[in-house]
Amino acid sequence: MSATAAEPETAPPYRPPTHVAVIMDGNGRWAAARRLPRVAGHRAGARAVRRTIEAAIRQGVRWLTLYAFSSENWRRPAGEVVDLTGLLRQYLKSEIDELQANGVRLRIIGDRTRFDPDIQRDLVAAERLTAANRRLNLIVALSYGSRAEIVAAARAAAEAARDGRLDLATLDEAMFEGFLSTAGVPDPDVIIRTSGEQRLSNFLMWQAAYAEFIFLDVLWPDFDATHFAAALAEFARRERRFGARPG
Ligand code: IPE
Ligand code: IPE
Ligand code: MG
Repeated sequence: MSATAAEPETAPPYRPPTHVAVIMDGNGRWAAARRLPRVAGHRAGARAVRRTIEAAIRQGVRWLTLYAFSSENWRRPAGEVVDLTGLLRQYLKSEIDELQANGVRLRIIGDRTRFDPDIQRDLVAAERLTAANRRLNLIVALSYGSRAEIVAAARAAAEAARDGRLDLATLDEAMFEGFLSTAGVPDPDVIIRTSGEQRLSNFLMWQAAYAEFIFLDVLWPDFDATHFAAALAEFARRERRFGARPG
C-alpha cells in the first residue's frame, strides 16, 4: 500500500460509498474446509482485514466499519475466546504502525471493558496515536451489540434529562443519534456480509435503517480487493430512495 498518495491511486468507475460496513463472517468454516483449527481461520481473517483496509483506501472510501467481535461471541468456548482476544492483542501491536503510516484513524465501538486491561490500554493508545489521521476512518466493533448500544443511549438520554441537560420533549432522532457510540459518524451506505449468512447478528441496527445489503458467498479469509471492488460496483447499481417517490 502506498503511504504517500492522499487520493485514491486509480479512480474507480463509480462514486464510492462514503461508509462501508462489513460483517466479517466465515473464519471457522474456512478453517474446517482445510481441516485446520478454527484459530487458523481467525488468523487468515486478520490478513483479510489488512487487505480490506488497503482496498478501502484505494477505492476512496472515507469510513470503514468492521464487525470483529459481537457481544454474543463471548458465549463461544473459552479456548476460542482466548484465541480471538490473543489475536486482537497481537493485531494491535503488529498493525498500528501501518495504520498510522497510511493515515488511518482507528476508533473502537462496543463494550471494551470486557477485555483484559492490557488490551484496553492498547486500544486507547491506538486511538490516541491515530486521532489526527484523516485518510480513512476505521471503526472496529469489538464486544459490540446494537441492542446494548441503543439501551445505553436511552439510559444516557434519561440521565441527561434527569440532570436538567436535556428536555425530553425535544428529544428527536438526531439528538438520540448523539448518544450512540457512532455519534457524528455517517450512517453506513452499504453493509457487506461474507459467508453466505443473511442476517445482521446485532450489528448497527439503528444505523442500518437505509443501508444497502450485500451478502457474499465468499468466506471472510478469502475476501480480497476484487470482492471489495465488486461490492462497490454492485452498490453503485442500486437505486436508493429513502422512502421518497421513485425517480
Ligand atoms: C467470524 O467467523 C469471526 C467472528 C465471529 C469472531 P466465525 O468464527 O463466525 O466463522 P463461522 O461463521 O463459524 O464460519
Ligand atoms: C457475527 O458473526 C459477528 C461477527 C462477524 C463478529 P457470528 O458468526 O457471530 O454470527 P451468527 O452467530 O452466525 O449470527
Ligand atoms: Mg460466524
